[in-house]
Amino acid sequence: MLTSITITRPDDWHLHLRDGEQMRAVLPHTARQFARAIVMPNLRPPVVSVAQASAYRQRILSALPAALKNQFEPLMTLYLTDNTPVAEIVRAKESGVVHAVKLYPAGATTNSDAGVTDIMKCYAVLEMMEAQDLPLLLHGEVTDSAVDVFDREKVFIDRVLLPLTQRFPHLRMVFEHVTTRDAVQFVKESSHPIAATITAHHLLLNRNAIFQGGIRPHHYCLPVLKREIHRKALLDAAISGNPKFFLGTDSAPHSLSSKENACGCAGIYTAHAAIEFYATAFEQAGALDRLEPFASFHGADFYRLPRNQGTITLNKETWTVPQHFDFADERLIPLYAGNALTWKMAS
Ligand code: NCD
Ligand code: ZN
Repeated sequence: MLTSITITRPDDWHLHLRDGEQMRAVLPHTARQFARAIVMPNLRPPVVSVAQASAYRQRILSALPAALKNQFEPLMTLYLTDNTPVAEIVRAKESGVVHAVKLYPAGATTNSDAGVTDIMKCYAVLEMMEAQDLPLLLHGEVTDSAVDVFDREKVFIDRVLLPLTQRFPHLRMVFEHVTTRDAVQFVKESSHPIAATITAHHLLLNRNAIFQGGIRPHHYCLPVLKREIHRKALLDAAISGNPKFFLGTDSAPHSLSSKENACGCAGIYTAHAAIEFYATAFEQAGALDRLEPFASFHGADFYRLPRNQGTITLNKETWTVPQHFDFADERLIPLYAGNALTWKMAS
């Protein structure tokens, strides 16, 4: 049995860092493990301009604890709206700071009310992104209330994604946090330059986890957890070695009071043990040797950034995840709170 693995330092290609005191609370968890992260722009108000993205980037860099300074690079994204100016795309590309633009269908998830109401309104912007080779990141769910919550990703493929790939054949895209066999199959079979991120929680849990002995708000995220056949399809994709699939935690911290609530927020917090969660999933699939390309190579190659130089080591060691973390003046409940993990990253 393997007792230790060393891999090239990984990157997180989909992360929610929030802002202010909340960001200060969670940032060290990510920066300890990952060299870079694609930082989501769904703040309030959203990050819609290069100026806002640059200022946010500075706030992240200043919030890094001394021990992690110069060890972590935030890769910024813009939040696409119905009114994003074409000129902002040119500025984004020139900035060197903004690495992608995120599409949230309006109302699809946390802080998405300023998102896109009709993708046709963004065609000029998408054309410019295609010309500038700036990737489009997709929250791939329709918001149509007539569509079952568990089907919204599949319907998005037919209604939005397929037409987009046909209209913009060279626009690089990332289908974020895929959760279904359908999404995996689409990405795998498409001749379009499209990739997908896969979260650790969608590799470890199926939708039963939401209802285990009662309702479990800390297992609620969007896109919502799916059936076991879908979890298996995600795991197969992650361990396949196909460079179209890479690590993106979608770690999404919310305070305890906003999760344990009559109308709880969507989001699962995994940054505290992200690489350990992925190692656990890969080990269960007998594919620990496939962790490195998934976690450390495929994303960098897709974003056309250099692979990282350093390494991290994970040891076979049982430890207990804390019950909670401080989160500004509140608490944050992490995935596996109070439960054991059997891999631990060496500090
Ligand atoms: C994310 C958040 O809280 O910002 N929540 C989630 O459940 N994943 C938003 C998102 O990525 O959908
Ligand atoms: Zn997200």
